[in-house]
Amino acid sequence: MSRIFLTENDVFKGDLILVNEYYPVREAEAPELTAVNGSEITLKRTAALQLELALAAVNGRTGITPVSGYRSMEEQQSIWNGCLSESGIEFTEKYVAKPAHSEHQTGLAIDLGETREHIDFVRPDFPDGGVCGKFKRIAAKYGFILRYPHDKEHITGIAYEPWHFRYVGAPHTEIITENGFVLEEYTEYIKSFGYGKKPLGFQGKYEISYLEAGDHSLEDDGIIGVSGNNRDGFIITKRSGL
Ligand code: DAL
Ligand code: ZN
Repeated sequence: MSRIFLTENDVFKGDLILVNEYYPVREAEAPELTAVNGSEITLKRTAALQLELALAAVNGRTGITPVSGYRSMEEQQSIWNGCLSESGIEFTEKYVAKPAHSEHQTGLAIDLGETREHIDFVRPDFPDGGVCGKFKRIAAKYGFILRYPHDKEHITGIAYEPWHFRYVGAPHTEIITENGFVLEEYTEYIKSFGYGKKPLGFQGKYEISYLEAGDHSLEDDGIIGVSGNNRDGFIITKRSGL
């Protein structure tokens, strides 16, 4: 059986990393990027492919426009500066993450707008009805969560953003959605399921657990996903019954 090796720095990598005002992007390398729908917007490969599948599933390739995906540090800085001078600090802090603290810098976040002649870059319209509503309802199945819900602003530190979706991958999306968690809450919740003890089971198919940061050599007994949490450990996902 092969083994999986993890080091301290791997905590800052993976689909489940938490990036917010307290936890900046720490991964040293820029992500490998793929264009979304042949546009100039890019995402990490799996996120881009899953987004295309989700858009196709709701027949949304023309009705929904990807507005902003991966951003470099310089781009995030320039969006911050532009918004600050145009709309002031109160508005900017609500809708733009500080440079180094934006999920867009991971290549795992996408802003989507309803296709129109004019689409606002900072706050695109993404209504609950029509094709956008359909996308919202199937997003979890394709690995995306609505990252900034309206009732969790005190936890995320960001205002309600119906247009901003974050790729975290299945089955985590379904657990997050079923429980009404935001990523801050989910990454905390997982910590009560220590690796090698009783895992968090999901639908009898998956077992999820938490492993503290450090150097590890794990037996690959059914592991289908390993991600750092960008804080203090790893989230390990296994198939059950293997
Ligand atoms: N709009 C989100 C918070 C960002 O700038 O990353
Ligand atoms: Zn966004």
